[in-house]
Amino acid sequence: MIDFMLNGQPRHCEALPDTSVLELLRETLGQTGTKEGCASGDCGACTVAIGEASFDGRVRYHSANACITPAHQLQDRHLVTVEGLARGDRLHPAQAAMVDCHASQCGFCTPGIVMSLFTLHEAQQRSPAPLTPERLEAALGGNLCRCTGYRPIRDAALTMSDYPEQRPGWLDLAVDATVPTRALHADDTFLQPTTLDELIEARRQHPEAPIVAGGTDLWLEVTQRLKRFERLVDVTRVAELNAIEATTLDDGRAGWWIGAAVTYSRLEPLFAEHYPAFAHLLHRLGSAQVRNRGTLGGNIANASPIGDTPPVLLALGSRLWLAGPEEGAGEAERELSLDDFFLDYKQTALNQDKEREGEVIRAIFLPRPEPDRHLKVWKLSKRREDDISAVLGAFSWRLEDGLLRDVRLAFGGMAAIPRRAAAAEAVLEGQPPTVASFQAARAALKEDFQPMSDVRGSAHYRELSAANLLERLRLVLMREDQGPDATDSPREVMLHAYAH
Ligand code: FES
Ligand code: FES
Repeated sequence: MIDFMLNGQPRHCEALPDTSVLELLRETLGQTGTKEGCASGDCGACTVAIGEASFDGRVRYHSANACITPAHQLQDRHLVTVEGLARGDRLHPAQAAMVDCHASQCGFCTPGIVMSLFTLHEAQQRSPAPLTPERLEAALGGNLCRCTGYRPIRDAALTMSDYPEQRPGWLDLAVDATVPTRALHADDTFLQPTTLDELIEARRQHPEAPIVAGGTDLWLEVTQRLKRFERLVDVTRVAELNAIEATTLDDGRAGWWIGAAVTYSRLEPLFAEHYPAFAHLLHRLGSAQVRNRGTLGGNIANASPIGDTPPVLLALGSRLWLAGPEEGAGEAERELSLDDFFLDYKQTALNQDKEREGEVIRAIFLPRPEPDRHLKVWKLSKRREDDISAVLGAFSWRLEDGLLRDVRLAFGGMAAIPRRAAAAEAVLEGQPPTVASFQAARAALKEDFQPMSDVRGSAHYRELSAANLLERLRLVLMREDQGPDATDSPREVMLHAYAH
């Protein structure tokens, strides 16, 4: 059973473990305002807002794609849909502005766009900030409209704050206090542990049950491949997996342990302060709806060859904190370099041997930036927003007396796993960033990778573009050498490198 609030009303629903929020709304509850377009988290037609009590006791709402959000994750949450916004005939400002700006034609995308605008409006109410083009893009980049065009939608976003506030009072109801709560892990088919010990025990009892966090990839198994999950272990409420802690490793490196279930949205301020290129990548990686749900731990454990964050973490020398069952003693923990985690296509050190069955990623080590270490991240994809990479290059290095030191070149999309280019790194190590050294590094890439052809790019395209990214790195270094006026923006990821 799931107990949650829907548009201010307590609900008590039965659902199979692999039911999505969209299915629950449309099929169980008959609430058909939320639409299904792609059923894979791409179009935003199904966007809803999910509220949970935050540290200050207020309920905060974030946008989510209902089609790939497990319904059981609504437990003790407040779900707001397009049906809940108007008060009688009085429209919510997001709705009124959409009407007055003529921002809807066929209307299929409109409920999702209204809900994205609603969460933007809520954020503005909480802490007003200029609605810059970047901010609007970040808020609306996950909503596709095929017939109206985006200018009227943007106009609605820019003018909705001019409308009289029509905020339903129930939006501020503290969720946890208004629904009849049950023990989170009482449902034996959708386990929701709240501590690491409970998670390890759930894994010990049900080693076959997939782990779900944001569900942004796992749920496509349900919607695209029609797979059924009889039991799932949800890690989104495990306290240890939601922590971000400053730390110093045994090797003396300072940084942060980032809990595996921390969402990209929560990471944005940390990345923006310390790694602007990584923060910018998050906006190329997925829409607001995806960033609100996807996690760093999920992106790593998923072990996709085209996952976007692993190459960056490899370039930064990241480590993993793993936790698993230990005979007769609660939990066993170990640390592992990310270099040693990916073994083969979708094979990781987590499922390496029987003895470690049930092991999970507890946290990911992100080192503090060193003053003289540089990072560049360039993603190539057919579409700029919300698209999967064909190739992603992440490069980190130091320059010491004009020589490249500690060079780390990592790529996604070039092999069965995200991997460093060991031969190219060796060629550049200790060399000046000259035409000749980079020419040799580009040649060495052929030893490192023999990429495959698929729908996102041919093997030839991948080889050529990976080599071109190295050449781009050389040009950046050359420009930096010429002085501050010629430097590349540290936030640049792929702005000049995608097909228009
Ligand atoms: Fe397209 Fe959910 S239906 S994102
Ligand atoms: Fe038709 Fe947006 S109004 S898809």
